[in-house]
Amino acid sequence: MAGQASAQGAKRGFALPQVPKIAIYIVGFIPAVLLFYLGVTNQLGADPMRYLEQALGLWALRFLIATLTISPLRQIFNINLLRYRRAIGLLTFYYAALHLLTYLVLDQGLDFEAIWADIVKRPYITVGMATFLVLVPLAVTSNNVSIRRLGGQAWARLHRLVYFAAIGAAVHFLMVVKSWPPEPMVYAAIVTSLLGYRLVRSLIRKIVPKRRAA
Ligand code: HEM
Repeated sequence: MAGQASAQGAKRGFALPQVPKIAIYIVGFIPAVLLFYLGVTNQLGADPMRYLEQALGLWALRFLIATLTISPLRQIFNINLLRYRRAIGLLTFYYAALHLLTYLVLDQGLDFEAIWADIVKRPYITVGMATFLVLVPLAVTSNNVSIRRLGGQAWARLHRLVYFAAIGAAVHFLMVVKSWPPEPMVYAAIVTSLLGYRLVRSLIRKIVPKRRAA
């Protein structure tokens, strides 16, 4: 019995001291609160709207990357943060929504004709919108009721869309900057490594037959 428990523990990985999930949301929203504070106190530089828009987009991408890091952390380093994945994934969506809201309200002044023209004419806006649309079903189904209704396998299949969201977000960032500064390339390299790791792992698992327990 004890052996079984420790084997299960090893499989689950090394869990850090349990932090309530609400703490993840509280810490996760600190950048947004800080940005809001700096905005209302006029400390966001010469172009506060652009600063806010860019910072929120960047935080969305960081949380997306953090979400994708949870599985490799468990598989490679035996660090189990699975319990927090949903909260971090939802933070990605909230930051992307705030980023979109800044664009719609502050950047475009809710001028829907101009917004539509932007979506059609500027490829980085098209990619950004597509990426956001991919995030929506992921956020909407990030709850236990959806897992139960869809069934584990279908839910997991749907949530593979996160890989497309990561590619979309990295490409969107590369397209925004137009030249080749290091920052978007570093983010693109991180996304490529995280997706490449999954691809290699799934290929290995297909090629190497599973060892069955006697
Ligand atoms: C919802 C549709 C989206 C729209 C309309 C949109 C629009 C924009 C705009 C206007 C900018 C600033 C461009 C500039 O500096 O001139 C920007 C930058 C950025 N966006 Fe988006 N975006 C969207 C979705 C997303 C999503 C889903 C992510 C990530 C998950 C994201 C990540 C970024 C990043 C990382 C930047 C660059 C920040 C920087 O320059 O430091 N965006 N986006």
